[in-house]
Amino acid sequence: ETVIRCRAAVAWAVGKSLSVEEIEVAPPKAHEVRVKIVATGICHTDEHVLEGNFPEVEFPVIVGHEGAGIVESIGEGVTSVKPGDKVILFGLPQCGECSFCLNPDSNYCLKSHISSSPTGLMADGTTRFTCKGKAIHHFVGTSTFIEYTVVHETAAAKIDSAAPLEKVCLIGCGFSTGYGAALQTAKVKAGSTCAVFGLGGVGLSVVMGCKAAGASRIIAIDINKDKFAKAKEMGATECINPKDFKKPIHEVLTEMTGEGVDYSFEVIGRTETMTEALASCHYNYGVSVIVGVPPAAQKISFDPMLLFSGRTWKGSVFGGEDFFSSVFILNFLSSSFCSLALVPSLGTTEKNLAPSSLLPPIRYL
Ligand SMILES: NC(=O)c1ccc[n+]([C@@H]2O[C@H](COP(=O)([O-])OP(=O)(O)OC[C@H]3O[C@@H](n4cnc5c(N)ncnc54)[C@H](O)[C@@H]3O)[C@@H](O)[C@H]2O)c1
Ligand SMILES: [Zn+2]
Ligand SMILES: [Zn+2]
Repeated sequence: ETVIRCRAAVAWAVGKSLSVEEIEVAPPKAHEVRVKIVATGICHTDEHVLEGNFPEVEFPVIVGHEGAGIVESIGEGVTSVKPGDKVILFGLPQCGECSFCLNPDSNYCLKSHISSSPTGLMADGTTRFTCKGKAIHHFVGTSTFIEYTVVHETAAAKIDSAAPLEKVCLIGCGFSTGYGAALQTAKVKAGSTCAVFGLGGVGLSVVMGCKAAGASRIIAIDINKDKFAKAKEMGATECINPKDFKKPIHEVLTEMTGEGVDYSFEVIGRTETMTEALASCHYNYGVSVIVGVPPAAQKISFDPMLLFSGRTWKGSVFGGEDFFSSVFILNFLSSSFCSLALVPSLGTTEKNLAPSSLLPPIRYL
């Protein structure tokens, strides 16, 4: 059980770009697992953190939370995985014992890094990463922009040894978040009409979820028209660019559908598009889901009549899913899933975050 020296992309402070550093990774303590990261996606949430737009993150920190790799060593008491196992890491694992985990309607866990404070530390209140003599924080219990990370055993789900890590890492956040928002949070019905605002990795996964649910119309919305070809490949039936219209997009959608869509999803992270998405769904039985991370410290003011008439406005964290069951589903679907070459495009995020010499981020388009 030795300290590993390897490289990581460290975020030293808000607003600073990542810097690739040599780092010491301590051995896993009891109920912890040290994992060699083989592939990591880049989620826009990582960028929100770097911009200071994500609550309660302590710097310096190693972000990245969409990773897959191979177990290098295990701490005392770990039975779920062994060295050599392939795993996907999850930012919102389930301990299976707390009041949230015991409630079948919940996918939060009181012991996760998202719910517990202070954040960025392991269960014993310390970190496993040091760089230049300084302790570096973990991010949502995963920290994947690093060659070796340490996670709690519940955050590492063992997967089939044949699984392609560079694809299944997306199950760690983007895919599960989007797919789950459609199937688990909104519970999209067959034959319905859906609108998806934002066609990054998460939005494209919402499109896939709506398609899997049997939606008959999936209207994909983005200000970047380069996203439309991929959205159509994933199941969008129509693509629209708000820049092509003078009127607000909720009016455009209402005209396109008669009474508004049955389900709308905001997958960008802007307060204006959150309200637009709400106003786009049917005034009585429409359901609108906020998936994009709201910018820190911004408030929304909206006409409460939008809700009074019957609409439902919901949020969805990590797709509202229990990750271990989604891995189960994905194992079940694995062959078709992998051949679909699920491909979130990373847009601006990739440019800013790719720790070039470090890890091969998943690239699409
Ligand atoms: N709820 C969760 O658990 C969860 C999990 C993962 C990511 N997220 C959040 O979901 C959001 C999307 O993540 P991503 O990785 O797919 O991001 P991304 O940057 O890859 O994609 C965002 C897309 O939105 C488009 N866009 C930007 N402004 C727009 C506008 N005004 N109108 C229409 N389209 C616009 C961009 O062109 C881009 O295609 C982020 O806010 C991210 O933090 C939430
Ligand atoms: Zn994410
Ligand atoms: Zn729990």
